[in-house]
Amino acid sequence: MTPPLGAFPAIRPRRNRRDAWTRRLVAENRLSVDDLIWPIFVMDGAGAQTTEVASMPGVQRATLEALATHVAPAVELGIPAVALFPMTPPALKDAEGTEARNPDNLMCRAARLLKREFPQLGLIGDVALDPYTDHGHDGVIRDGYVANDESLEVLAAQALVQAEAGIDVIAPSDMMDGRVAAIRAALDGRGLIHTGIMAYAAKYASAFYGPFRDAVGSGGALKGDKKTYQMDPANSDEAMREVAMDLAEGADMVMVKPGMPYLDIVQRVKAEFRVPTFAYQVSGEYAMIMAAVRNGWLEHERALLESLMAFKRAGADGVLTYFALDAARALRGR
Ligand code: PBG
Repeated sequence: MTPPLGAFPAIRPRRNRRDAWTRRLVAENRLSVDDLIWPIFVMDGAGAQTTEVASMPGVQRATLEALATHVAPAVELGIPAVALFPMTPPALKDAEGTEARNPDNLMCRAARLLKREFPQLGLIGDVALDPYTDHGHDGVIRDGYVANDESLEVLAAQALVQAEAGIDVIAPSDMMDGRVAAIRAALDGRGLIHTGIMAYAAKYASAFYGPFRDAVGSGGALKGDKKTYQMDPANSDEAMREVAMDLAEGADMVMVKPGMPYLDIVQRVKAEFRVPTFAYQVSGEYAMIMAAVRNGWLEHERALLESLMAFKRAGADGVLTYFALDAARALRGR
């Protein structure tokens, strides 16, 4: 029986979805290994050891002796860069984060080692004091407040030791006002004109950093919260002001963090500024997906690739993700 005239849809978007080859042709965004930055955790300790972060199944911390072996797969897969995070031994932590400016701290030793082993691998260094302070805050405390300008001095000194150890891109995650300008001036003052800055420009006071604080051992120590310097999740216009400031102060790239719950911010930043824009799929996002995967509720590869494609669709140029190795392997397998 023929349906009455006009009962057929004149336009059928499903035509382009029918075959794999048309789906490939019309795909608007692509995820590639070039989009991936792998955050890695370095720990102190003798010998070549790795330990799993309990709240991040599949994520390992590595000692310096284990580091080259730990990072080698990323290099083989063609991942452009890794972001380094140290787990500072508690005995080296103090209220001022003194260890952050030690040119022989774990981070600097890791940077020297990786630069020597893998000269073409990009090294991104997190700058903030929380892995080094006994109170777990990103800056120094004066009269019960995380003091902005006093923290800038320490952060600039921290950036210098990292850059001198071989970190290519300094990534300030502290959210102090004026830190990009302070770090840029310090780097230029030493002639480190090629060292870049990837600013955690819009970094929110988020519940999704929980597992990271476990990974670097700063969580138990943290007194209070970070709401006096990290952004309020309610705000979006403010993120644009933060990005504008960081760019004006000399940031080469900007970042939005966390990632998945903040894709609206990623999209606005890219649309309004047209600058290299990154997103950080943080520890809690990784933990959520992995918890579901471990329960058999989500398919690992499909879920991680879809989550990363969403960043591309929002306009991100790249993503810091603990799934970097899995994603690179999955993309290669295609
Ligand atoms: C340090 C820093 C944090 C993260 C990256 N750099 C934690 C925080 O701000 O408390 C979180 C990364 C993640 O959750 O994966 N300032």
